[in-house]
Amino acid sequence: MVEAKPHWPSPEFAAKANIKAAEYEAMYRESIENPEAFWAKKAQRLHWFKPWEKVLEGDFSKGETRWFSGGKLNVAYNCLDRFLNTPIKNKAALIWVGDKPGESKTYTYQQLHKEVCRAANALKNLGVQKGDRILLYLPMIPELAIFSLVAARMGVIHSVVFGGFSAEALQGRIEDAKPKVIVTANAGCRGGRIIDMKNNVDEALYNSSFKVPHVVVINRVAADTHNYWKAGRDLHWNDLIADPDLSFEFPCEEVDAEDPLFILYTSGSTGKPKGILHTTAGYLLGANLSFDLIFDHKPEDTFWCTADLGWITGHSYILYGPLSNGATTLMFEGIGTWPDPGRFWQIIDMHAVNVFYTAPTAIRALMKASPKFLQRHNLSSLRLLGSVGEPINPEAWQWYFKNVGHEQCPIVDTYWQTETGAIMITPLPGATPTKPGAATLPFFGIQPVLLDADGKEVEGPGSGYLCVKAPWPSMMRSIYGDEERFFQSYFSQYPGYYFTGDGARRDADGYYWITGRVDDVLNVSGHRLGTAEIENAILEHTSVAEAAVVPFPHDLKGQGIYAYVTVKEGVPTNDQLKQEIIELVMHKIGKIVRLDVIHWAPTLPKTRSGKIVRRILRKIAEGEFANLGDTSTLIDANVLKVLMEDKAKYH
Ligand code: PRX
Repeated sequence: MVEAKPHWPSPEFAAKANIKAAEYEAMYRESIENPEAFWAKKAQRLHWFKPWEKVLEGDFSKGETRWFSGGKLNVAYNCLDRFLNTPIKNKAALIWVGDKPGESKTYTYQQLHKEVCRAANALKNLGVQKGDRILLYLPMIPELAIFSLVAARMGVIHSVVFGGFSAEALQGRIEDAKPKVIVTANAGCRGGRIIDMKNNVDEALYNSSFKVPHVVVINRVAADTHNYWKAGRDLHWNDLIADPDLSFEFPCEEVDAEDPLFILYTSGSTGKPKGILHTTAGYLLGANLSFDLIFDHKPEDTFWCTADLGWITGHSYILYGPLSNGATTLMFEGIGTWPDPGRFWQIIDMHAVNVFYTAPTAIRALMKASPKFLQRHNLSSLRLLGSVGEPINPEAWQWYFKNVGHEQCPIVDTYWQTETGAIMITPLPGATPTKPGAATLPFFGIQPVLLDADGKEVEGPGSGYLCVKAPWPSMMRSIYGDEERFFQSYFSQYPGYYFTGDGARRDADGYYWITGRVDDVLNVSGHRLGTAEIENAILEHTSVAEAAVVPFPHDLKGQGIYAYVTVKEGVPTNDQLKQEIIELVMHKIGKIVRLDVIHWAPTLPKTRSGKIVRRILRKIAEGEFANLGDTSTLIDANVLKVLMEDKAKYH
């Protein structure tokens, strides 16, 4: 294979970079050969109420790791309080940009600190205390950042649920996390549309087996959009903070290094979403160090990550990474294509953004727009670009490099996962020559390996299952309430390794090229979706007998959703049924899950033990008829012929 030509960081960039080319290798080696000494040194970056006794303990092969045992700290203290007696006090911590052009608000470190303390007092008055959970189902408004920090300050575990999830998806997360309080908004604003949020909370709670004592409702829009208000349970945020006795002081809870910080649900290959549990010190250190070195943080930078706080990217690189470095972070409520496809460029221009971090899906969507949307804005403040969430195709990489970065900005293609807490494989912008489409080299402390089908490590160039060989501080500690599933999902396939679920290739320079999920997880527009969840939603339609979901390559979304559906005997297949199924799935999971193709299948290919063979269905959806692989285990291989013949009708 011909390798892409490397792009070297410019000498000007490299000279000022936080990590220079000459440093990477020795520092990486130290982080692998002597991880405890390396991380002990790096942990000095954080503020500790009490130093740790042991850097690392536990049996990695069982998924057990404990970092900085005995140490006490507080994440909110690290993100706010420690800057209050420094010149950073009056620096912008959070620049919030609203959906509607022109709407924006800035909080300095000091202001954010006061807001967080006041809100913590309000929650304390509702009986919230250390160890409780709070669930945040909010649009991208400052209160989402504020309440996350409130939880951290109080030693309370937050669970942020992406505002685009449906009432039913929310209900599952409520029943799993059992929060004491839900904080929501009367509505959200996104792309010029008003999105009901309180109604979804009402519906979720109506059906939920767990009754949440309090729902705090923030008024995002003037008029109330909800049609229900439960006295005693539902409280207006404005009423709670109207209390003149509410103090602007709230002492930080001194929590243990391994106390949980948050739960974040993500899709797996089977069953319901998994509540990924992250703890305090290791997670914060991972987010803190990676932000500084990968985004080459400079105190004067304005950093913008376009993710939603409902995803891990938002947790680590809108909130905890930037704020724990005393950085200025920008948070955007809207979308890149409204009111027109120049919105991102307008915000970069208006706020003189220096470092911009987005997803390939957004880049591909904006590439299609007329160049005038880019050209009318001054993007000269940019000095570094980032990409995350899915493989970036070289065409999108080149467009981003030339048109957004004007060939002046290095691109960091950052590979990581909800489970890993922080970036794992990435260029360091002043040190690593980049190749379009490659996530390049491991970050400090990360030991990636490629395993073959027998679980043996592949040496040198080659392909395999991407695993990690040794613990790192920001790795997940458990699946909330399900230790066994945690072990089974990540540590059982390849004993002694953490299995990412991704495949990757390593080239002759040791660079990693992520090739995508090798399990039953889809990556649609950078959103991670489980086939099982989507299939279960389709199966709820009374006309459906069976369903199998696979990905197929999609120009804009990276992967599209291809559903094979078998209807019950006698049911006519038509466009109306198709529409009903599409809408049912969006209603059950959320609007982000829109089926692209429904292929009516007379029956589905199964093994003798009754397992649907998705591997073959995926090949057919991709149009790879010549290379279906082993079909000898199927009960009735004839069905494949029918599906292949029909394929052209659907896509
Ligand atoms: O398949 C990989 C893909 O996104 C998955 C993780 O999804 P999630 O937990 O939602 O976190 C997304 C943001 C960190 C991975 O298993 N992925 C993430 N980043 C990249 C990527 N694939 C290729 N290149 C990347 N840079």
